[in-house]
Amino acid sequence: MDLIQRPRRLRGFEAIRNIVRETTVNTSDLIYPIFVVHGEKIKREISALPGQYHLSVDMLAEEIEEISALGIQGIMIFGIPKTKDEAGSEAYHTNGIVQQAVKEVKKHRPSLLVMTDVCLCQYADHGHCGIIQNGRILNDRTLDVLANIALSHAEAGADVVAPSDMMDGRVKRIREVLDHNDFEHIPILSYSVKYASAFYGPFRSAAGSSPQFGDRKTYQMDTGNRRESLREVALDIEEGADMVMVKPALAYLDIIREVKDKFQVPLGAYQVSGEYAMIKQAAQAGLADETQMMVETLTSIKRAGADIILTYFAKEMAKWIRDQ
Ligand code: PBG
Repeated sequence: MDLIQRPRRLRGFEAIRNIVRETTVNTSDLIYPIFVVHGEKIKREISALPGQYHLSVDMLAEEIEEISALGIQGIMIFGIPKTKDEAGSEAYHTNGIVQQAVKEVKKHRPSLLVMTDVCLCQYADHGHCGIIQNGRILNDRTLDVLANIALSHAEAGADVVAPSDMMDGRVKRIREVLDHNDFEHIPILSYSVKYASAFYGPFRSAAGSSPQFGDRKTYQMDTGNRRESLREVALDIEEGADMVMVKPALAYLDIIREVKDKFQVPLGAYQVSGEYAMIKQAAQAGLADETQMMVETLTSIKRAGADIILTYFAKEMAKWIRDQ
């Protein structure tokens, strides 16, 4: 064979593969989502998300120790409220579940980056991400509520607020209200490109946040749309987003790449609950190796362009990286 170029020469054994690898996930890329519930001494496995837990505030210190010891730099806090109402008012209560959790985490470990999910759906009895009147979501009235939620998180000590509702103009309003209250230093990570996805199924079961009528297609994006994702990101950056996110990750790697190539702000990607559950279930059924699927999917998300990866695998991935 007259073959000068032989790519296989660089695949011969592990050390050479390690040396020529173009993309490696670092522990500092990972953000770990945490579900916090009311009550005491609660650490209850979430049936829809094997290996993930509902934690009460008093159990957070221990969890945070573990996370920090692994070298994970940040968490995203989701709250499960005690009561829901039409306006989702527990979401912006000074002593709401997220606000309590933020205070607790910052008290124990001020160095850990605490992000909070800013949305209404878990807190509203109708399960939608906006204020509803006659079956319609009132976009502009929702903005004040979202800004209130973000402000209450910042007041509790959150380092980054992350609106996930997909209302138009929410980054602008949140920025205005934060700035007006001397929180001009708090960054906004916008879930800019959030598709109306079936992959949120396990999360909705874990958070009790399924819409009670209709679906989220009037605010979350249509799977077929690519240009629209660029428009969403451009608008959010104009409105003041410091970081943007694409969600879910695996079914939208092309979108992650395109946003990365076209914009200069740090880019997050969320490997959502359904992506995690899919891997867990396949592994449990003995169909494929869990660790390899974890490493492969997270490496792909980073290769596609994500600077920050939100994943329920954060702890397991950090352990894998540590043990390499
Ligand atoms: C709240 C929110 C959702 C997720 C993050 N924030 C659910 C939804 O939009 O229905 C999904 C996260 C996951 O599936 O892991 N709006």
